[in-house]
Amino acid sequence: QKLTIIGAPIEEGAGRLGALMGPAALRTAGLIRTLEELGHPIEDRGDLCLPKDLPVVPPVAGLAHHIEKIAAWSRMLSNETYDAMKNGSFPVILGGDHSLSMGSVSGVARYCKEHNRELFVLWLDAHSDFNTPATSPSGNMHGMSAALLCGEPGLEGVFGDEPRGFVKPENLHLFGIRSIDSTERVLLRERGIDVIDMRKIDEFGISRLMRGIIDQVQKANGVLHVSFDVDFIDPSLAPGVGTTVPGGATYREAHLVMEMLHDSGVVGSLDVVELNPFLDERGKSALILVDLVASIFGRQIFDKPTQADQSA
Ligand code: ARG
Ligand code: MN
Ligand code: MN
Ligand code: MN
Repeated sequence: QKLTIIGAPIEEGAGRLGALMGPAALRTAGLIRTLEELGHPIEDRGDLCLPKDLPVVPPVAGLAHHIEKIAAWSRMLSNETYDAMKNGSFPVILGGDHSLSMGSVSGVARYCKEHNRELFVLWLDAHSDFNTPATSPSGNMHGMSAALLCGEPGLEGVFGDEPRGFVKPENLHLFGIRSIDSTERVLLRERGIDVIDMRKIDEFGISRLMRGIIDQVQKANGVLHVSFDVDFIDPSLAPGVGTTVPGGATYREAHLVMEMLHDSGVVGSLDVVELNPFLDERGKSALILVDLVASIFGRQIFDKPTQADQSA
């Protein structure tokens, strides 16, 4: 499988600076070399930068900091991601804060629509990112990307004239969640979003919950976009992120997610977001991310389990 690497050094969607250095840190930690060693041909588009002219975005009702820059990034990333998929490649978007998923997932959605494939999104995150400018307590747009993708009102300006709603709410799976704002909770319930919080993961285990999502995608012959926010992992393992929340996925759990996703064969695109190297400890978070990305692209300890293992 050919991979297209798209660096997206965007930080204006987050509340603190530093995610801009995310792509550089992932490169320094050996991401490209690791993927090459796994046998994947790589097309590296480098780290993109914003054009000088930003789009004019009509005023929003509420708070949406730096919406012009986020809109410019989103439009550019949408085209880049779509283009990679159209060329038969698997786009890997290196962030950058989580607002970039507005762009990447909308590009994947365009590809899926043209090819009559059902789009599913797995959102690995401590947060639900389901705020709108009207509900956001912070106004930080990295907390709004899942809402925009599901067509929530108030963010039309990001794509200008483009149609609203890129992902069916029933096809979005939030996974690893342990921080939800009270206004987000209301909206998530109203829309019937599948929120797999840490409580469920503790009780039922990663593998059963992941299996359920993978089955759903396989039955629909769908394409799964994986949006990996670093804060999905426990902050003791990955401290290099601006919005840490205790009680995240363990090292083993995170790898199991990635390994199961690889074996499923349904993943078509990936974001790696929110790495903030300014907050990291000697590259620790960047290094663990490279290992996790290796797992989703086929690195395994020995063999994948067979029927015999399961009945043993
Ligand atoms: N819910 C909070 C907010 O809207 C935090 C969002 C954090 N999002 C993230 N992608 N790290 O501001
Ligand atoms: Mn997020
Ligand atoms: Mn998060
Ligand atoms: Mn593979």
